[in-house]
Amino acid sequence: MEAIKFDFNNMMSDFIGEQGIEEKELVGASDVAKKAFDFFKANRGTAMMGWADLPYNQDEIVGDILTTAKSVQKDFDNFVVLGIGGSALGPIAVFNALCHLRYNDLPKEKRGVKFFVEDNVDPERMLALLDVIDVKRTMFNVITKSGATSETMSQYLIITDILKKALGKDYKNNIIATTSEKKGNLIKLAKQEGFKTFYIPDGVGGRFSELCPVGLLPAAVLGIDIKGMLSGAKFMDELCSSCDAFKNPALMAALLQFIAMGKGKNISVMMPYADSLKYIADWYCQLWGESLGKAKDLDGKTVNVGQTPVKALGVTDQHSQVQLYTEGPFDKVITIIGVEKFRGDVVIANGAEEFKDVNFLCGHTMSELINTERVATEYALTRSKHMNNTILLPEVNAFTLGQLLMFFQLETAYCGAMLNIDTFNQPGVEEGKNATYALFNRAGYEEKKAELNAAPKKNAKYII
Ligand code: PA5
Repeated sequence: MEAIKFDFNNMMSDFIGEQGIEEKELVGASDVAKKAFDFFKANRGTAMMGWADLPYNQDEIVGDILTTAKSVQKDFDNFVVLGIGGSALGPIAVFNALCHLRYNDLPKEKRGVKFFVEDNVDPERMLALLDVIDVKRTMFNVITKSGATSETMSQYLIITDILKKALGKDYKNNIIATTSEKKGNLIKLAKQEGFKTFYIPDGVGGRFSELCPVGLLPAAVLGIDIKGMLSGAKFMDELCSSCDAFKNPALMAALLQFIAMGKGKNISVMMPYADSLKYIADWYCQLWGESLGKAKDLDGKTVNVGQTPVKALGVTDQHSQVQLYTEGPFDKVITIIGVEKFRGDVVIANGAEEFKDVNFLCGHTMSELINTERVATEYALTRSKHMNNTILLPEVNAFTLGQLLMFFQLETAYCGAMLNIDTFNQPGVEEGKNATYALFNRAGYEEKKAELNAAPKKNAKYII
């Protein structure tokens, strides 16, 4: 089995001295790890931890997804996801990881339907999309668990209006709804209009939803091996079945971050050394930031915890951010994601024999270069005593990607339990959503509107 590996040597004091974690600290925190593990084990599959069971309980739904995907591939030229946050970042990350890096630009015979994810309400972006697709030949997958998110519902309204004008009653064949079975407006609209619908299980929050129909349908439409992804996730879940952090990679990763936070490491940098994994860093940033950034703990105490997630790309950001990471404050943990075997390679050609400073590159491959630079960055970070760790994928495929997604989800759940917070809510996001409703005069938000009106007015002297 191609297992991903978690190498945390460079988090340890043996390698980075006083900035690191001593082994006895890790051993001493074994009760913290065990408590978090037991909490997760006791609650998995229930309340908002339904996502943990997704690798095990979706046989029927996967069948429906594959059948639907086949008919989309046959009847449409484009597949557009309308969603935001957890309803968009997973599909983007998986598309980028497992499809050709220039997928939409490939000639038709070398790709499937074109793929777009619209996760903003910038009017220029909507107009740009409409310039490059024929709506009649496009399947729109509206994804919103709450069925109430302003961004997604406005996109839905814009698109249905255009579709109705173009297709009349048949417009419903160009929309698939992915939403909660019981709550929200989208499910009501879907039933009323007769859209094909997939459900987001109750216990699966947006940022934990990539392995349910939110992510599986777009992936299947793209021809991605969704069963492989789910079996990778299952494999990782099984790998993480011990309460001993030394035998449970996600638990160890969570414990290290938890201890690091206690040492003032308030920033978590995610830095894949592979373009295919670039958007995994975006997905991670939401998962880590929204799950762990909380004002109160479970006992109601004000804690204001969380680590600020930052995305970076190796090697590109070696020429941008790594100066800060190696010489700046000791306030970060840098997680590098490496890939052992790339799916293709390019030899660096000869052509500069007389220039020794360039010629040393010739004959090597680009994969050798990117991986050597990764190792060199690990070395530089370690030498400057900055905490870093590496997740190594044997290669990027559906199985290893499924493992990686599950690894981060488990790490987040364990770390949230260690912090004694509600990992699965997002009161801060809801606050912004509610303020938008109030500003748009939505009924029921009058009190919020009054609160906003009572807020201090901007002072003109501070705007120059
Ligand atoms: O993780 C979350 O729950 C959020 O980021 C949501 O995914 C995001 O706010 C979109 O919500 P919805 O799917 O309800 O439109």
